[in-house]
Amino acid sequence: MAVRAPAKVNLCLQVGARRPDGYHDIATVYLAVSLYDHLTAGPARDVTIAVTGEGASQVPLGEANLAVRAARLLAARAGVTAGVRLELAKGIPVAGGMAGGSADAAAALIACDALWETGLDREALSALAAELGSDVPFALHGGVALGTGRGERLTAALSRGRYHWVFALAARGLATPEVYAAYDRLAGTTAARPDQGSPADPPGVLAALRTGDPVALARVLVNDLQPAALRLAPTLARVLAAAADLGALAAVLCGSGPTVALLARDGEDATRLAVELAGLGLVRGVRVGHGPVAGARFVDEAG
Ligand code: C5P
Repeated sequence: MAVRAPAKVNLCLQVGARRPDGYHDIATVYLAVSLYDHLTAGPARDVTIAVTGEGASQVPLGEANLAVRAARLLAARAGVTAGVRLELAKGIPVAGGMAGGSADAAAALIACDALWETGLDREALSALAAELGSDVPFALHGGVALGTGRGERLTAALSRGRYHWVFALAARGLATPEVYAAYDRLAGTTAARPDQGSPADPPGVLAALRTGDPVALARVLVNDLQPAALRLAPTLARVLAAAADLGALAAVLCGSGPTVALLARDGEDATRLAVELAGLGLVRGVRVGHGPVAGARFVDEAG
Protein backbone atom coordinates (compact mmCIF):
# COMPACT_ATOMS: atom_id res chain seq x y z
CA MET A 1 0.00 0.00 0.00
CA ALA A 2 1.64 3.22 -1.14
CA VAL A 3 0.11 6.51 -0.07
CA ARG A 4 1.12 10.13 -0.31
CA ALA A 5 -0.19 12.96 1.84
CA PRO A 6 0.25 16.71 1.37
CA ALA A 7 1.54 19.56 3.52
CA LYS A 8 -0.72 22.48 4.37
CA VAL A 9 -0.55 26.21 4.81
CA ASN A 10 -3.02 28.23 6.85
CA LEU A 11 -4.18 31.12 4.66
CA CYS A 12 -5.60 32.65 7.76
CA LEU A 13 -5.17 31.50 11.33
CA GLN A 14 -7.22 33.33 13.92
CA VAL A 15 -6.63 32.19 17.45
CA GLY A 16 -9.26 32.58 20.16
CA ALA A 17 -9.31 31.70 23.81
CA ARG A 18 -7.38 28.92 25.49
CA ARG A 19 -9.90 26.24 26.41
CA PRO A 20 -10.09 24.19 29.62
CA ASP A 21 -8.57 21.23 27.69
CA GLY A 22 -5.49 23.33 26.88
CA TYR A 23 -6.31 23.77 23.18
CA HIS A 24 -7.26 27.06 21.57
CA ASP A 25 -10.37 27.67 19.53
CA ILE A 26 -9.26 28.69 16.09
CA ALA A 27 -10.76 29.78 12.79
CA THR A 28 -8.52 28.86 9.90
CA VAL A 29 -8.59 28.31 6.16
CA TYR A 30 -6.40 25.38 5.23
CA LEU A 31 -4.84 24.96 1.79
CA ALA A 32 -3.20 21.62 0.87
CA VAL A 33 0.03 22.18 -1.07
CA SER A 34 2.23 20.00 -3.25
CA LEU A 35 4.92 19.01 -0.75
CA TYR A 36 4.36 15.36 0.11
CA ASP A 37 5.31 12.63 2.51
CA HIS A 38 5.17 9.11 1.02
CA LEU A 39 4.22 6.14 3.15
CA THR A 40 4.17 2.45 2.29
CA ALA A 41 2.55 -0.18 4.50
CA GLY A 42 3.29 -3.89 4.35
CA PRO A 43 2.29 -6.90 6.43
CA ALA A 44 4.20 -7.54 9.68
CA ARG A 45 3.62 -9.04 13.12
CA ASP A 46 4.27 -5.79 15.03
CA VAL A 47 3.86 -2.12 14.20
CA THR A 48 7.25 -0.79 13.06
CA ILE A 49 8.43 2.26 11.16
CA ALA A 50 11.51 3.32 9.21
CA VAL A 51 11.96 6.93 8.15
CA THR A 52 14.06 8.35 5.32
CA GLY A 53 14.33 11.73 3.65
CA GLU A 54 15.01 15.23 4.77
CA GLY A 55 15.02 15.69 8.55
CA ALA A 56 14.43 11.95 9.11
CA SER A 57 16.77 11.91 12.11
CA GLN A 58 14.42 14.31 13.94
CA VAL A 59 11.35 12.10 13.47
CA PRO A 60 10.58 9.89 16.48
CA LEU A 61 10.39 6.17 15.70
CA GLY A 62 8.46 4.86 18.71
CA GLU A 63 5.04 5.58 20.13
CA ALA A 64 5.54 9.33 19.66
CA ASN A 65 5.45 8.83 15.89
CA LEU A 66 2.06 9.94 14.57
CA ALA A 67 1.94 7.27 11.83
CA VAL A 68 2.61 4.57 14.45
CA ARG A 69 -0.09 6.05 16.69
CA ALA A 70 -2.51 6.13 13.78
CA ALA A 71 -1.86 2.45 12.99
CA ARG A 72 -2.29 1.45 16.63
CA LEU A 73 -5.47 3.49 17.05
CA LEU A 74 -7.03 1.97 13.93
CA ALA A 75 -6.01 -1.54 15.00
CA ALA A 76 -7.51 -1.05 18.47
CA ARG A 77 -10.80 0.33 17.16
CA ALA A 78 -11.17 -2.21 14.37
CA GLY A 79 -10.10 -5.17 16.50
CA VAL A 80 -7.09 -5.93 14.29
CA THR A 81 -4.31 -8.01 15.85
CA ALA A 82 -1.93 -7.94 12.86
CA GLY A 83 0.95 -5.46 12.71
CA VAL A 84 2.29 -3.33 9.88
CA ARG A 85 5.67 -2.32 8.58
CA LEU A 86 5.56 1.37 7.73
CA GLU A 87 8.17 3.03 5.52
CA LEU A 88 8.01 6.78 5.51
CA ALA A 89 9.85 9.05 3.06
CA LYS A 90 9.74 12.65 4.29
CA GLY A 91 9.27 15.46 1.79
CA ILE A 92 7.49 17.83 4.17
CA PRO A 93 9.78 19.86 6.47
CA VAL A 94 9.95 18.35 9.96
CA ALA A 95 8.63 20.64 12.75
CA GLY A 96 8.02 23.32 10.13
CA GLY A 97 4.38 24.20 10.80
CA MET A 98 3.25 22.45 7.62
CA ALA A 99 1.57 19.48 9.34
CA GLY A 100 4.06 16.84 8.21
CA GLY A 101 3.32 14.61 11.21
CA SER A 102 -0.39 15.00 10.56
CA ALA A 103 0.11 14.01 6.92
CA ASP A 104 1.88 10.85 8.10
CA ALA A 105 -0.99 9.98 10.43
CA ALA A 106 -3.54 10.50 7.65
CA ALA A 107 -1.47 8.38 5.25
CA ALA A 108 -1.14 5.60 7.85
CA LEU A 109 -4.91 5.56 8.45
CA ILE A 110 -5.80 4.96 4.82
CA ALA A 111 -2.86 2.60 4.14
CA CYS A 112 -3.61 0.41 7.18
CA ASP A 113 -7.35 0.52 6.55
CA ALA A 114 -6.66 -0.97 3.11
CA LEU A 115 -3.96 -3.41 4.26
CA TRP A 116 -6.11 -4.80 7.09
CA GLU A 117 -9.33 -4.53 5.08
CA THR A 118 -11.01 -2.76 7.98
CA GLY A 119 -13.32 -1.03 5.48
CA LEU A 120 -13.92 2.16 7.47
CA ASP A 121 -15.62 4.94 5.54
CA ARG A 122 -14.20 8.46 5.22
CA GLU A 123 -16.28 9.73 8.11
CA ALA A 124 -15.03 7.06 10.50
CA LEU A 125 -11.43 7.64 9.39
CA SER A 126 -11.92 11.38 9.87
CA ALA A 127 -13.14 10.81 13.45
CA LEU A 128 -10.01 8.77 14.21
CA ALA A 129 -7.94 11.49 12.53
CA ALA A 130 -9.37 14.13 14.88
CA GLU A 131 -8.31 12.01 17.87
CA LEU A 132 -4.75 11.91 16.54
CA GLY A 133 -4.29 15.67 16.10
CA SER A 134 -6.00 18.90 15.17
CA ASP A 135 -4.61 18.98 11.61
CA VAL A 136 -4.98 15.29 10.76
CA PRO A 137 -8.57 15.50 9.42
CA PHE A 138 -7.45 18.15 6.94
CA ALA A 139 -4.54 16.00 5.75
CA LEU A 140 -7.14 13.36 4.81
CA HIS A 141 -9.48 15.91 3.28
CA GLY A 142 -7.04 18.05 1.27
CA GLY A 143 -8.06 20.86 -1.10
CA VAL A 144 -9.30 23.95 0.71
CA ALA A 145 -11.33 23.89 3.91
CA LEU A 146 -12.44 26.10 6.73
CA GLY A 147 -11.28 24.65 10.05
CA THR A 148 -12.92 25.49 13.37
CA GLY A 149 -12.89 24.04 16.87
CA ARG A 150 -9.22 23.27 17.44
CA GLY A 151 -8.89 22.95 13.64
CA GLU A 152 -10.43 19.50 13.36
CA ARG A 153 -13.94 20.57 12.34
CA LEU A 154 -13.86 21.01 8.58
CA THR A 155 -16.12 22.62 6.03
CA ALA A 156 -15.03 22.24 2.42
CA ALA A 157 -14.56 25.54 0.59
CA LEU A 158 -14.52 26.53 -3.05
CA SER A 159 -11.49 27.97 -4.71
CA ARG A 160 -10.61 28.85 -8.26
CA GLY A 161 -7.28 28.18 -9.96
CA ARG A 162 -3.94 27.29 -8.53
CA TYR A 163 -1.82 29.36 -6.15
CA HIS A 164 1.98 29.22 -6.34
CA TRP A 165 4.19 29.40 -3.28
CA VAL A 166 7.77 29.40 -2.12
CA PHE A 167 8.47 27.87 1.28
CA ALA A 168 11.43 29.23 3.22
CA LEU A 169 12.77 26.52 5.54
CA ALA A 170 14.32 27.50 8.85
CA ALA A 171 17.42 25.94 10.33
CA ARG A 172 15.61 24.84 13.49
CA GLY A 173 12.02 23.73 14.04
CA LEU A 174 9.50 25.21 16.47
CA ALA A 175 7.31 23.09 18.76
CA THR A 176 3.61 23.92 18.34
CA PRO A 177 2.78 23.89 22.11
CA GLU A 178 5.62 26.34 22.75
CA VAL A 179 4.33 28.74 20.10
CA TYR A 180 0.81 28.60 21.56
CA ALA A 181 2.27 29.18 25.05
CA ALA A 182 4.17 32.22 23.74
CA TYR A 183 0.92 33.40 22.14
CA ASP A 184 -0.79 33.16 25.55
CA ARG A 185 1.99 35.18 27.18
CA LEU A 186 1.73 37.88 24.52
CA ALA A 187 -2.06 37.94 24.66
CA GLY A 188 -1.81 38.38 28.43
CA THR A 189 0.35 41.47 28.12
CA THR A 190 -1.22 43.11 25.09
CA ALA A 191 -4.70 43.37 23.65
CA ALA A 192 -3.78 40.86 20.95
CA ARG A 193 -6.49 38.33 21.77
CA PRO A 194 -9.29 38.82 19.27
CA ASP A 195 -12.13 38.14 21.71
CA GLN A 196 -13.07 36.16 24.78
CA GLY A 197 -14.85 33.28 23.14
CA SER A 198 -14.64 31.96 19.63
CA PRO A 199 -12.67 33.72 16.93
CA ALA A 200 -14.25 35.82 14.23
CA ASP A 201 -14.91 34.56 10.71
CA PRO A 202 -11.84 34.55 8.48
CA PRO A 203 -11.88 38.03 6.99
CA GLY A 204 -12.43 37.79 3.26
CA VAL A 205 -10.28 34.71 2.67
CA LEU A 206 -13.00 32.53 1.20
CA ALA A 207 -14.15 35.37 -1.06
CA ALA A 208 -10.56 35.95 -2.23
CA LEU A 209 -10.13 32.24 -3.02
CA ARG A 210 -13.17 32.32 -5.25
CA THR A 211 -11.63 35.05 -7.41
CA GLY A 212 -8.62 32.90 -8.35
CA ASP A 213 -6.53 36.07 -8.11
CA PRO A 214 -3.35 35.73 -6.00
CA VAL A 215 -3.23 39.52 -5.56
CA ALA A 216 -6.63 39.38 -3.83
CA LEU A 217 -5.50 36.45 -1.68
CA ALA A 218 -2.27 38.23 -0.75
CA ARG A 219 -4.26 41.06 0.86
CA VAL A 220 -6.02 38.81 3.34
CA LEU A 221 -3.32 36.37 4.53
CA VAL A 222 -3.03 36.55 8.31
CA ASN A 223 -1.62 34.38 11.09
CA ASP A 224 -2.22 35.30 14.74
CA LEU A 225 0.64 33.02 15.83
CA GLN A 226 3.20 35.03 13.86
CA PRO A 227 4.14 37.52 16.64
CA ALA A 228 4.60 34.61 19.07
CA ALA A 229 6.78 32.65 16.62
CA LEU A 230 8.84 35.81 16.00
CA ARG A 231 9.48 36.08 19.73
CA LEU A 232 10.83 32.52 19.76
CA ALA A 233 12.69 32.82 16.45
CA PRO A 234 13.51 36.52 15.88
CA THR A 235 15.49 35.84 12.67
CA LEU A 236 12.20 35.06 10.94
CA ALA A 237 11.70 38.83 10.70
CA ARG A 238 14.60 38.94 8.21
CA VAL A 239 12.94 36.29 6.04
CA LEU A 240 9.66 38.21 6.05
CA ALA A 241 11.50 41.42 5.16
CA ALA A 242 13.42 39.67 2.37
CA ALA A 243 10.17 38.31 0.94
CA ALA A 244 8.84 41.85 0.67
CA ASP A 245 12.11 43.14 -0.85
CA LEU A 246 12.06 40.37 -3.47
CA GLY A 247 8.53 41.28 -4.52
CA ALA A 248 6.54 38.37 -3.11
CA LEU A 249 2.82 39.23 -3.16
CA ALA A 250 2.73 38.39 0.55
CA ALA A 251 4.52 36.26 3.10
CA VAL A 252 2.97 34.50 6.05
CA LEU A 253 4.10 32.04 8.69
CA CYS A 254 2.93 28.46 8.08
CA GLY A 255 0.85 27.38 11.09
CA SER A 256 3.02 27.64 14.20
CA GLY A 257 6.13 28.06 12.02
CA PRO A 258 8.96 28.43 11.49
CA THR A 259 8.45 27.85 7.73
CA VAL A 260 7.49 31.06 5.93
CA ALA A 261 5.23 30.82 2.87
CA LEU A 262 5.74 33.40 0.11
CA LEU A 263 2.83 33.85 -2.30
CA ALA A 264 3.95 34.27 -5.91
CA ARG A 265 2.13 35.68 -8.96
CA ASP A 266 2.49 32.42 -10.92
CA GLY A 267 4.76 29.41 -11.29
CA GLU A 268 7.49 31.36 -13.04
CA ASP A 269 7.47 34.05 -10.37
CA ALA A 270 7.72 31.33 -7.70
CA THR A 271 10.86 29.92 -9.35
CA ARG A 272 12.41 33.39 -9.49
CA LEU A 273 11.56 34.09 -5.85
CA ALA A 274 12.97 30.72 -4.76
CA VAL A 275 16.27 31.26 -6.58
CA GLU A 276 16.68 34.81 -5.30
CA LEU A 277 15.70 33.94 -1.73
CA ALA A 278 18.10 30.97 -1.67
CA GLY A 279 20.84 33.27 -2.95
CA LEU A 280 20.51 35.53 0.10
CA GLY A 281 21.69 32.71 2.39
CA LEU A 282 19.09 33.56 5.06
CA VAL A 283 17.30 30.21 5.05
CA ARG A 284 18.22 26.52 5.28
CA GLY A 285 16.50 25.82 1.99
CA VAL A 286 13.61 26.73 -0.25
CA ARG A 287 10.82 24.65 -1.80
CA VAL A 288 8.38 25.54 -4.54
CA GLY A 289 4.82 24.26 -4.39
CA HIS A 290 1.25 24.92 -5.44
CA GLY A 291 -2.21 24.33 -4.10
CA PRO A 292 -4.90 23.26 -3.71
CA VAL A 293 -4.02 19.57 -4.10
CA ALA A 294 -5.84 16.41 -2.97
CA GLY A 295 -5.56 14.98 0.53
CA ALA A 296 -3.97 11.63 1.45
CA ARG A 297 -4.38 9.22 -1.51
CA PHE A 298 -3.01 5.95 -2.81
CA VAL A 299 -0.19 6.81 -5.16
CA ASP A 300 -1.81 5.26 -8.24
CA GLU A 301 -4.99 7.27 -7.52
CA ALA A 302 -2.87 10.40 -7.07
CA GLY A 303 -1.37 9.80 -10.49
O1 C5P B 1 -3.60 18.75 17.98
P1 C5P B 1 -2.12 18.70 18.06
O2 C5P B 1 -1.63 17.48 18.79
O3 C5P B 1 -1.46 18.86 16.74
O4 C5P B 1 -1.69 19.96 18.94
C1 C5P B 1 -0.39 20.10 19.46
C2 C5P B 1 -0.39 21.17 20.54
O5 C5P B 1 -0.61 22.44 19.97
C3 C5P B 1 -1.46 21.02 21.59
O6 C5P B 1 -1.05 20.17 22.63
C4 C5P B 1 -1.64 22.45 22.06
O7 C5P B 1 -0.62 22.81 22.96
C5 C5P B 1 -1.42 23.25 20.80
N1 C5P B 1 -2.68 23.57 20.09
C6 C5P B 1 -3.54 24.50 20.63
N2 C5P B 1 -4.70 24.82 19.97
C7 C5P B 1 -5.00 24.24 18.79
C8 C5P B 1 -4.13 23.30 18.21
C9 C5P B 1 -2.97 22.98 18.90
O8 C5P B 1 -3.28 25.05 21.71
N3 C5P B 1 -6.13 24.59 18.16
